[in-house]
Amino acid sequence: MIIVVGNQKGGVGKSTLTVNLAVAWQQSGKSVVIVEADPSVFTVSTWADDREEASLPPILTVKKTGKLKEALRNLDQQYEVVLVDLPGKDSPEMRSALLAADLFLIPSQPTQADIDATINLAPIVEAVGEYNEDMKTAVVINRLTTHARSTELAEATEALEQAFETILPDAVHDRKAFRSSLSEGKSVLEGADQKAAMEIQKLAHNIEKELNYGSN
Ligand SMILES: Nc1ncnc2c1ncn2[C@@H]1O[C@H](COP(=O)(O)OP(=O)(O)OP(=O)(O)O)[C@@H](O)[C@H]1O
Ligand SMILES: [Mg+2]
Repeated sequence: MIIVVGNQKGGVGKSTLTVNLAVAWQQSGKSVVIVEADPSVFTVSTWADDREEASLPPILTVKKTGKLKEALRNLDQQYEVVLVDLPGKDSPEMRSALLAADLFLIPSQPTQADIDATINLAPIVEAVGEYNEDMKTAVVINRLTTHARSTELAEATEALEQAFETILPDAVHDRKAFRSSLSEGKSVLEGADQKAAMEIQKLAHNIEKELNYGSN
């Protein structure tokens, strides 16, 4: 399966969710590759290098920019899970990766600026749908405040539902573990924060459900 993680807004957590999902599927025994589709940003490849230095199970990362469709289809023949980490802007990489995607996973923080930027992706999703009819789209709310009474999730979901078929029901919260693990070459699944780990497991599970995948 090809999962393309993108948003035209920077800093929404694309790379963070990509590497954590990669480890989740690696731990469940799947072969995984991450395509780092950003020409100038090295978040994922640096993370993978740190990971090797920490002697954690390695995850293959491939740097590929420009036209991605054929490269992704080839990787999809060789790996069970292909994750694509896109640049934080509308780009040739975004357009071509979506032509091969099974799922477009859009992280969005629950701020008004992020929600507006995310909703602006809807016409792109619609245009891609003309060529890749099978692509599903799902928004995941990231960096939700852990304050129990926050109504942010309901409000963000309501706004995003107008524009996208699926808003995943379980948000990822703002947790220090996501920041520290990224800089150590780890996933939160390899750290002490059980809540963070549970959120990534749920996200992986929700994605598998969207794609009818993983029950084998
Ligand atoms: N759930 C979270 N909790 C806490 N910090 C987070 C969370 N998600 C992301 N971050 C932090 O937010 C920052 C941006 O995250 P990340 O690099 O994953 O975003 P991005 O969308 O890939 O950005 P870019 O557009 O620059 O590629 C990082 O410092 C990361 O550690
Ligand atoms: Mg990134």
